[in-house]
Amino acid sequence: MAHTTCVFLVLGLVCAHGLTELHELHNAARSKLIDEINAVPGILWKAGRNPRFEGHPVGAAKTLCGVKKESHEKLQALRNNGTVQVLKADSTVVPSSFDSEKHFSMCAKVIGDIRDQSNCGCCWAFGAASAASDRLCIATNGTIQVALSAQETCFCAESDGCDGGDLYTPWEYIQSSGLATGGQYQNSGPFGKDGLCSDFSLPHCHHHGPQGNDPYPAENQPGCPSVSRSPKCPTKCDAESKAPYSNFKRDRYSFSGNIISPDSERAIQQTIMKYGPVEAAFTVYGDFENYVSGVYHQTSSEVLGGHAIRIVGWGVESGTKYWKVANSWNPYWGEDGYFRIKRGTNECGIEDDVTANSGADWNGPGI
Ligand SMILES: *[C@@H]1O[C@H](CO)[C@@H](O)[C@H](O)[C@H]1NC(C)=O
Ligand SMILES: *[C@@H]1O[C@H](CO)[C@@H](O)[C@H](O)[C@H]1NC(C)=O
Repeated sequence: MAHTTCVFLVLGLVCAHGLTELHELHNAARSKLIDEINAVPGILWKAGRNPRFEGHPVGAAKTLCGVKKESHEKLQALRNNGTVQVLKADSTVVPSSFDSEKHFSMCAKVIGDIRDQSNCGCCWAFGAASAASDRLCIATNGTIQVALSAQETCFCAESDGCDGGDLYTPWEYIQSSGLATGGQYQNSGPFGKDGLCSDFSLPHCHHHGPQGNDPYPAENQPGCPSVSRSPKCPTKCDAESKAPYSNFKRDRYSFSGNIISPDSERAIQQTIMKYGPVEAAFTVYGDFENYVSGVYHQTSSEVLGGHAIRIVGWGVESGTKYWKVANSWNPYWGEDGYFRIKRGTNECGIEDDVTANSGADWNGPGI
């Protein structure tokens, strides 16, 4: 008996020792990367050590980058054959800074809603559902203040759900099928008490960057498991939904105009000024998972994937032009759920694949 215990103990120690060494190697590699990032001459953003990645290899942040590889080519083809309308800049004067949440203050509740895609590669659905909610509110001058459902977008517009999508499909879905209302997981977020139809069904998670005061468990930890199979496309509203949002067939917002894609920095700015935030995608490099604050620009070369987000405004800091971007990694990440990224130089492709609806052409209950 004593002998057996001893053997197990020895084996356990050997095993633990090997793992610890591996973790220390990963941590050392990450610390080195963070120091290297922060030491890049002229760097405009801050990298930080994140408890979520303790013992994890550099580049562990792959799973949330749910924009499919073919998304860019598909959108280009749709732009070329006129299915998506290419938006060119006009003579509208563009200010040096603009924040949708402040400018469209009647829709601040909707625009300021920072969502959480859980441990699911559903960024493409969140970017579209959030930008569409903003545009619906702005077009109705604040009459319709709802969150449109990322749940329905992610699991009905595209069969791959958490495994990824592109930036055209969700807009095409909203245009042709309409989209029900739906807020954050289990009545959390600004619309928690409103009884919207189809809330996001996967739990909040801590994503990347330092843990700080984020109360949620990290991806792949208990409480935030990786999603092995996407939930089914909902066909009725949640049991907790309330009138007027509780009828899945009637609680539906769609637009009758085109799907648009601006062709320049200025055209992106002008559509945001007129109609509100837009969806966009960018390439995530190995350094991005360590973002804490500042104006992001690429400092490393390893590609982790494509990530979809929502551009809400822009500004200039110490002479550097940036986009203000709402992420879907909950409000405890980055700059209160937002990050800023260099503007005007197509940083990480952020100005390439911008999508939205053409404007104030919304249909649905109350319009
Ligand atoms: C435009 O291109 C897309 C993607 O290649 C294709 O699916 C669609 O049928 C085309 N539409 C027209 C009107 O040519
Ligand atoms: C929008 O709403 C505001 C405040 O409710 C109101 O003062 C304004 O006249 C409205 N604008 C339009 C174009 O209806």
